[in-house]
Amino acid sequence: MFDESYMQVALELAKKGKGKVSPFPLVGALLVKNDRIIAAAYRNSPNEISTEIIALKNSKENIEGATLYTNLEPCTLSTDKSDCVDTIIKSKIKKIVIGTPNPKLNPYEQSINRFKKAGIEVKTGVLEKECIELNKFYFKFIKTSLPYVTLKMATTLDGKIADTKGNSKWISSAESRSLVHELRSEYDAVMVGINSVKVDNPKLTVRFVEGRNPKRIVLDTKLQLSLKSNLVKNNDDKNLIILTSKKNINRKRKIELYQRKGIEIIFLPEKNGKLDLKKALLSLAQKNIISILVEGGSILFSSFIKQKLEDEILLFISPKILGNGIPLCSNLGIKNLSNALTYTLKEVDKIGDDALINLKRR
Ligand SMILES: NC(=O)c1ccc[n+]([C@@H]2O[C@H](COP(=O)([O-])OP(=O)(O)OC[C@H]3O[C@@H](n4cnc5c(N)ncnc54)[C@H](OP(=O)(O)O)[C@@H]3O)[C@@H](O)[C@H]2O)c1
Repeated sequence: MFDESYMQVALELAKKGKGKVSPFPLVGALLVKNDRIIAAAYRNSPNEISTEIIALKNSKENIEGATLYTNLEPCTLSTDKSDCVDTIIKSKIKKIVIGTPNPKLNPYEQSINRFKKAGIEVKTGVLEKECIELNKFYFKFIKTSLPYVTLKMATTLDGKIADTKGNSKWISSAESRSLVHELRSEYDAVMVGINSVKVDNPKLTVRFVEGRNPKRIVLDTKLQLSLKSNLVKNNDDKNLIILTSKKNINRKRKIELYQRKGIEIIFLPEKNGKLDLKKALLSLAQKNIISILVEGGSILFSSFIKQKLEDEILLFISPKILGNGIPLCSNLGIKNLSNALTYTLKEVDKIGDDALINLKRR
């Protein structure tokens, strides 16, 4: 097999950790000797020792002379504070194949140079694009201290996310909704605006697939979230977070009522009468929330798009036309086509009866 094929196996292994390892990266590692995989491992929880070390330990055969494949450059220090690079060097492997350098390491810390100095052959950049894509949440967080943001929208053919009465159940197909639950299980958090909570009364949990619930974040400037809402009633996992204005800091009684229900409240400054979105993202990142799936509605989508705070859009288009209704977004202040915001089309899929379009901001 070629290096690319083994790296593909490492990537598939790494994917098994989706939704379980944040804020650490997804890692898959393989040991190959005489063109045979003799050991493998993937990161399965945030508190684990280095995945490469687990692969070394998993081997029942002599490691000497083997090749180690890993999608991400091993970190100098493992989570148990042992020097992961030293352990790999001491294992006497012959070669290490790395998908992509680790953005966390500065040039002096890079393990690649230490492997080379120890006489281990190093090959980097194997399936690099795929390796970066797999860890897009981690890369964004390490480079910017902000979470990776995906806007998930369900629209009709004519770009409406709800009818004139605000009803959006259901624009997209059952298959699309199942896929959304799968996404929720992979992102650290989902986020909605307070109007969507008032109209839709969503649970925002993972129910149609196996997987853990994400944190559930509501932008609620004036602390209007009803204690009778599904979000509050279904907060046994204590994953609900309300982002609200600093102006509410003295509303002790209301705050206590929420806190008694296990709700975390984060106070933020306002910007143009709404919560300061950039500051919201920064404070969520400080809590190790490194990926957010924004589920609407229109006003919240518009805020993200206007401030260029989204990384990606997942647009589910259902083959329906409403004519009137709530548009996908509005108020961007763009008057000419030449000033239109542009995106790169990454992928188009058919999910049930819907088209799923994946876009990245240019
Ligand atoms: N098809 C879909 O994909 C989809 C998904 C979700 C919802 N929906 C539909 O969308 C409709 C509700 O959407 P909507 O556009 O009226 O409201 P929304 O986006 O759900 O909520 C907007 C509200 O959130 C609060 N907010 C606080 N800070 C904000 C900020 N920085 N940016 C944006 N909002 C902020 C503001 O209310 P306060 O000032 O009161 O805090 C704001 O009015 C419903 O009809 C729902 O069914 C459709």
